[in-house]
Amino acid sequence: MTNRDASPPAPPATRRAGVALRSSGAAAKGVLVAAALVALALVLGGAVLWAARRPLEQPIAFNHALHVGQLEMDCTDCHLYAVNGVRATIPNIEVCADCHDEAASESAEETRLVEYVASGERVPWRKIYRVPEHVYFSHRRHTQLGGIECETCHGAVGEQVEPVGRPLVRLSMEHCMRCHQDSGVSNDCLLCHR
Ligand code: HEC
Ligand code: HEC
Ligand code: HEC
Ligand code: HEC
Ligand code: HEC
Repeated sequence: MTNRDASPPAPPATRRAGVALRSSGAAAKGVLVAAALVALALVLGGAVLWAARRPLEQPIAFNHALHVGQLEMDCTDCHLYAVNGVRATIPNIEVCADCHDEAASESAEETRLVEYVASGERVPWRKIYRVPEHVYFSHRRHTQLGGIECETCHGAVGEQVEPVGRPLVRLSMEHCMRCHQDSGVSNDCLLCHR
């Protein structure tokens, strides 16, 4: 849902302005200017909304840089299906329990995690990257078959010391289509909307 705001309906406004211009005269120019201003306001409004949206908070301040950088874990040690499945999935207590069934540090965050593990309660992670219901996306297709690195779509998440709370890379329709175009992959509407 965070992906949606910044695509204002500029094309209809521009088209209307084009028609008005062809009919000529000062009034038509006024319409053109007004339409341009409306389009501009929509763009700016969208950008402001986008910037003002508060990042999501996570229940535990997970540190990617520690696990990926220092401990040299692979992304797929935790995101188990990022290469073989449709959804990468966010790991939960069964994955964390391998190393965190008891606390090995003074960290309050780790203590919290150990409590989740001990009680069998799942950590209520909040998902940040999300395509709408009507869009089909498969990780396996892109990572295993397409050979695309996680970072191309998710940025330097492995270097983050805190949960980012909002996408580092915005996966808009335009972003998808630009890469498909560059890679010679179809941009047929029904490829993604099914
Ligand atoms: C030790 C387990 C672990 C490893 C290793 C790991 N992650 Fe994560 N990842 C998590 C957890 C837990 C979250 C949820 C908390 C957060 O957002 O930081 C998460 C969140 C994410 C998200 C945001 C998902 C969403 O939509 O909310 C992305 C993207 C991601 N990881 C990519 C990666 C990549 C790329 C790598 C390898 C460079 C990696 N992760 C390595 C545990 C891990
Ligand atoms: C392969 C082992 C391993 C796995 C699996 C693992 N961790 Fe860790 N984690 C460590 C080690 C080692 C440390 C550093 C020492 C310590 O604090 O236990 C650590 C530290 C932490 C800390 C405390 C340090 C800090 O940043 O505040 C948190 C919180 C944490 N891990 C969360 C998680 C979560 C959540 C998962 C599951 C998604 C997970 N870990 C999976 C090995 C692991
Ligand atoms: C071509 C772009 C692309 C690549 C490459 C990619 N992802 Fe994703 N990722 C997405 C999209 C799009 C979503 C949202 C999917 C949805 O809502 O169904 C997502 C969602 C996620 C999530 C949130 C949980 C989930 O399964 O929806 C995690 C975690 C994640 N990706 C991790 C990874 C990891 C790790 C890699 C590399 C092994 C990777 N991704 C490679 C585009 C990509
Ligand atoms: C960085 C490049 C890149 C990005 C970004 C990207 N794709 Fe793709 N996509 C590919 C490539 C390459 C293939 C063909 C993979 C193969 O089968 O070899 C592909 C294939 C597909 C397919 C066909 C797979 C099938 O099962 O029929 C769909 C659907 C698709 N992408 C949807 C998306 C969506 C939705 C997004 C944005 C959220 C997206 N892609 C972003 C490169 C990309
Ligand atoms: C490569 C994948 C891909 C292709 C091809 C594609 N779309 Fe999309 N489309 C998306 C994604 C991803 C979103 C969601 C974007 C977001 O959430 O910001 C989207 C959103 C939309 C929306 C907006 C609905 C909403 O959620 O606000 C419409 C309308 C739409 N697409 C129509 C089309 C049409 C028409 C075509 C063919 C010309 C097309 N799409 C081709 C990936 C694609």
